[in-house]
Amino acid sequence: MTEPLGVYIHWPFCKSKCPYCDFNSHVREGVEQTRWRRALLVELEHAAREAPNRRVETMFFGGGTPSLMEPETVGALIARTKQLWDTAPDIEITLEANPTSVEAGRFAALAEAGVNRVSLGLQALDPAALKFLGREHSVDEALAALTAARRHFARYSFDLIYARPGQTPQAWAEELSRALPLAGEHLSLYQLTIERGTKFFAEHARGAFALPAEDQAAELFELTQARLAAAGLPAYEISNHARPGAACRHNLIYWRYQDYVGVGPGAHGRFTVGEAKRATRRISGPEGWLAAVEREGHGTVETTDVLGRDREEEALMVGLRLSEGIERALFASTTGRDPVEALGDRVTPLVDAGFLKVDATHLKATAAGRQRLNAVLERLLA
Ligand SMILES: C[S@@+](CC[C@H](N)C(=O)[O-])C[C@H]1O[C@@H](n2cnc3c(N)ncnc32)[C@H](O)[C@@H]1O
Ligand code: SF4
Repeated sequence: MTEPLGVYIHWPFCKSKCPYCDFNSHVREGVEQTRWRRALLVELEHAAREAPNRRVETMFFGGGTPSLMEPETVGALIARTKQLWDTAPDIEITLEANPTSVEAGRFAALAEAGVNRVSLGLQALDPAALKFLGREHSVDEALAALTAARRHFARYSFDLIYARPGQTPQAWAEELSRALPLAGEHLSLYQLTIERGTKFFAEHARGAFALPAEDQAAELFELTQARLAAAGLPAYEISNHARPGAACRHNLIYWRYQDYVGVGPGAHGRFTVGEAKRATRRISGPEGWLAAVEREGHGTVETTDVLGRDREEEALMVGLRLSEGIERALFASTTGRDPVEALGDRVTPLVDAGFLKVDATHLKATAAGRQRLNAVLERLLA
């Protein structure tokens, strides 16, 4: 059987930079859409030479704000993908969208272009929180964008950010009560993190605001898990919840350490080449990437073959994010070793502490383990 492949396409532009965000996103006046379309198509062709003879199961337009792409560009990239590879008849094509009215106005054209799933960055359903998060949309605009998403796409999801300064469990429970009736099959619920280099990093450092303490954040996480499971959308990953069978297939490829190619500034790829997992990374800066693609046909800054212990570590780091955990047979077939055997005597203490679970088919982190996955991984990979 032809190996499945995911195709990730990065659009690095946003209307404004949110104070918490450290994604590869930039604010630029007058993006030359035709030039960008041409360059993305050229690098997509390069990606098809890197990972040929696969069957594309998923595409994901991430950002930045891909809802600012011209639908014609999205359509051209989808059409070319279908020429370059065999594609699954039920291919999942997701696009991340900001919930402003301008972008919701493009949904019909994006659906026409082939997008069949949108992920909307709502972030909060509370006006003061939207202001704190530096968002440019109102709660009403967000609700209108959700209605438009529901009308135009078979599948939709939205993001909320919780564990915000001063947010009590009661306030978050109330916000969830407003969010759940709006949810379709999928929700992404992220705890606010303070990332180096962001505006929030500087503000937090000088004491402008404080995040909930660790035990309060843990309480908010547990409340989220319980409420969402009760509503029929259990967590399938640390921050992602879905009805059974409705997980984002593209992100599952990533967390199951299967193959994907990355196109666009800063995009990463991981795909099997012989015995190795080839890791590719493109130039992050939009202008540098564009110039490299126009000069050389791709903007790759680094290509490495991940082998042995490194490959096991990568597979563990992503796989333990999933509620289903790591399928031992799949891990063994890609890395050559059963994960429990590979980790040796580091597993038992973490099982005894209630952070890991092992059975005949899977190695997984418990909900408590997923909540503090970085600490668990530190112990496992020490
Ligand atoms: C690439 S952005 C989504 C697309 C779109 N640009 C938007 O903002 O609506 C991915 C998501 O990551 C989440 N996110 C980004 N930075 C975060 C942070 N520091 N803490 C928590 N969540 C964050 C937000 O929920 C955001 O919607
Ligand atoms: S959260 Fe979204 S809109 Fe805000 S800067 Fe990041 S990518 Fe852009």
